[in-house]
Amino acid sequence: MLKPLIAGNWKMNGLTASLQEVEALIEGLQGKDVTADVLICPAATLLDRLTAKTGDSIIETGGQDCHANEKGAHTGDISAEMIADIGGAYVIVGHSERRTDHGETDAMVREKAEAAIRAGLTPIICIGETLEQRKAGQALDVLGQQMGGSIPGGLDGSQFVIAYEPVWAIGTGLTPEAADIKEAHSFMRARLGQSAVKSPDKVRLLYGGSVKPSNATEILSIEDVNGALVGGASLKAQDFLGIIFH
Ligand code: 13P
Repeated sequence: MLKPLIAGNWKMNGLTASLQEVEALIEGLQGKDVTADVLICPAATLLDRLTAKTGDSIIETGGQDCHANEKGAHTGDISAEMIADIGGAYVIVGHSERRTDHGETDAMVREKAEAAIRAGLTPIICIGETLEQRKAGQALDVLGQQMGGSIPGGLDGSQFVIAYEPVWAIGTGLTPEAADIKEAHSFMRARLGQSAVKSPDKVRLLYGGSVKPSNATEILSIEDVNGALVGGASLKAQDFLGIIFH
């Protein structure tokens, strides 16, 4: 049984005042029997302060992206080493918003995941089909291609996480049918089993896309769903707690 991971992706949201939500989250988790790992990936501007605030709590922190290089002339980027340096433990790579906004390809995502592992971080590698691809019956093919291209070779299953985020479910309030999530996750699990990944059963497979307190129980009880990557509902401590304690 894999320990679930409930991860919050704050995206381009959050100012200094948002640190209060983290305080509320710490308070809400204190003294409770928390059966999942809890992670927040804030904007880079908040990462250092938020990591300091989470201190001894069970909350871990991470970045939303990293450059493939350790350092150098890459204005505006941050490296995996920088995230590790301030105490971050994870980094999201290949989110569909980065694939769309910044033209990130599977090969680029793979390089970023390699950089994350080199720096001692756990990459959360995001994959997911568009609505057009789903309607055309290509969803699983797309997932297979993205896995083949984005996952570095020679890894152990405990070194990385995969997040399945159907592009059409992100920020829309729409979610796939439970049967479709199950199909996608069992496909990913089987494909890992055929890959060069060592201990493929140790890879945590997260679902992301419109997860909220009201649907968390159903989604998180699906076989091979080992956690959630949560956008909008991670911004408010009460909603995020509702998912953690679903
Ligand atoms: P929402 O939960 O807002 O749909 O976002 C999901 C997501 O993209 C998390 O990375």
